[in-house]
Amino acid sequence: MADAGGNGGHLPAGDAGSPAGTGGGPAPGTGGGGLADGVPVLAVQDLVAGYGEAVALGGVSISAAQGTVTAVLGANGAGKTTLLRAISGLIKVRGGSVLLDGVDVTRRKPEDMARAGVAHVPEGQGVITELTVEENLRLGALIRAGRAVRAAALEQAYQQFPVLASRRRKPAATLSGGERQMLVIARALLAAPRVLLLDEPSLGLAPIVISQVMALVAGLRDSTGLTILLVEQNARAALAIADRGVVLNLGKVAVTAQAADLAADTGLLNHYLGL
Ligand SMILES: Nc1ncnc2c1ncn2[C@@H]1O[C@H](COP(=O)(O)OP(=O)(O)O)[C@@H](O)[C@H]1O
Ligand SMILES: [Mg+2]
Repeated sequence: MADAGGNGGHLPAGDAGSPAGTGGGPAPGTGGGGLADGVPVLAVQDLVAGYGEAVALGGVSISAAQGTVTAVLGANGAGKTTLLRAISGLIKVRGGSVLLDGVDVTRRKPEDMARAGVAHVPEGQGVITELTVEENLRLGALIRAGRAVRAAALEQAYQQFPVLASRRRKPAATLSGGERQMLVIARALLAAPRVLLLDEPSLGLAPIVISQVMALVAGLRDSTGLTILLVEQNARAALAIADRGVVLNLGKVAVTAQAADLAADTGLLNHYLGL
């Protein structure tokens, strides 16, 4: 608990309250930082999870203020994916808690987490290649109540992602890697989440496309006030747009810092990430 109290309680408030580090000016009226002084949107406290005998997360505490991107970094096997799975209810939580707007949502089922406003985009560009772009998108809107609401959400997605609009009748298999990543993010947004968990969106993409995906993530934060946990192997790309950075090592938080400070600490990045 010492960790959660010392770290989680105060870490994000000052961060979101001073968006200087994020580059772009805050968009008025979007709530991008308006609630920053209060409870963090997402707070993970002493979370423990694993597979069989193996403990993959050994008491992880992270908190994220509204309208921020938190880069979750770490070597292969550090526990990044497990952290996202534990938050969204895809694997059993053995200890600790997950709070959404201060409400304990630990151990809720994945569909209940989705309804509570947590969208999870797993690693590996999970588009259904046999379905059209639109059919993929419609799946994301299924948890929204009412046909009209779903239709409006779909139209909004097409405005936000014109590339997808022009391909709406095409099988998702015809999309490029970057477009598929866009599609899975757009699909997640159709659920109208407050928290977006992104697992390695840059995986397998060319450097220029990685920059585009990162710009998209930053734009979502700035325009909608979404709170984003961005799991990445590509630390430099993630830290370039993140507000905070967390480095996981062997299932524990090794470092939590401002993204800019982490990016500047080449010794640390080298030690934990081999950069
Ligand atoms: N399905 C699984 N069954 C057993 N062990 C797993 C499984 N998935 C991950 N692990 C183990 O849990 C640890 C954390 O993995 P993971 O969360 O996938 O790391 P990361 O996403 O940081 O690469 C690793 O030691 C990994 O081998
Ligand atoms: Mg992973």
